[in-house]
Amino acid sequence: MRTIVITGSASGLGAALVRRLERDGHRVIGLDRRDAPIVADLGTPDGRAAGIAAAREACGGSLDGLVSCAGLGPYDDPQTICRVNYFGAVAILDGLKPELSRGSAPAAVAISSIGAAAEMLMLPEYLQACRDGDEKLAQGIMADKDGTTSYSNAKRALAEAVKKRAVEWAPEGIRINAVAPGKMDTPMLDRLLSDAAHAPAIEAMPVPMGRHGSADEIAGVVAFLLGPDASYVQGQVIIADGGSNALLDPTRV
Ligand SMILES: NC(=O)c1ccc[n+]([C@@H]2O[C@H](COP(=O)([O-])OP(=O)(O)OC[C@H]3O[C@@H](n4cnc5c(N)ncnc54)[C@H](O)[C@@H]3O)[C@@H](O)[C@H]2O)c1
Repeated sequence: MRTIVITGSASGLGAALVRRLERDGHRVIGLDRRDAPIVADLGTPDGRAAGIAAAREACGGSLDGLVSCAGLGPYDDPQTICRVNYFGAVAILDGLKPELSRGSAPAAVAISSIGAAAEMLMLPEYLQACRDGDEKLAQGIMADKDGTTSYSNAKRALAEAVKKRAVEWAPEGIRINAVAPGKMDTPMLDRLLSDAAHAPAIEAMPVPMGRHGSADEIAGVVAFLLGPDASYVQGQVIIADGGSNALLDPTRV
């Protein structure tokens, strides 16, 4: 039995992952801004600190797995997306790293998005602010941008942060990888598809497999990355999108 913290545990992908890992016999500690054993808002410094402190206490100082899944959709406020989807996600990863370092075969996973591959939306100055940990500057850059731009850049910055930490944490035996889902059936996708401002772009993204993915299909990928079969997988961004990226970006390996 492994002890694993999951953020965003109240809904969608996070909730499916809680079910999957509990079914596999693990002890899961959920964290969310609502309906979770640990209720904390990862969009604020105080909320992050409280969430990390509560997770530390709940795991007893040693953690085998950590999944940063909490996130807001492109329909949310661009500056809040920046705070939650990048700075909140990275704060949880870094904040619980000491506990991971005391765990058994410890592994972390961050949920990025296929949106991270949208090169035409990338803002180099924003990505640099994220690398520098400058939340104020990053938020300022997003003040006059739209939600899709903020979402895609935050998810790209998160994928980059995972790769950086994969190199830094490897000597301590901590694995870390990211998953970039495509269109998955969750409350977030439902909301996007019922929003006239976002539905056309979402519907226009082709999926060679001809269907949305299920939350359980992402839970399976994350369970693999947390477990022994992924023991030599480090710093990867696993795209699980029914083939959309292979269709749209066929030459990038
Ligand atoms: N559904 C998709 O198609 C899809 C595709 C790519 C990436 N993702 C990513 O997967 C993750 C899960 O998304 P989902 O589809 O399950 O969405 P969801 O809206 O069903 O679940 C997101 C969860 O995050 C929590 N959350 C949001 N803001 C928070 C905050 N400030 N502090 C703590 N918790 C907070 C919510 O309360 C909710 O329980 C997100 O990071 C999302 O960006 C989803």
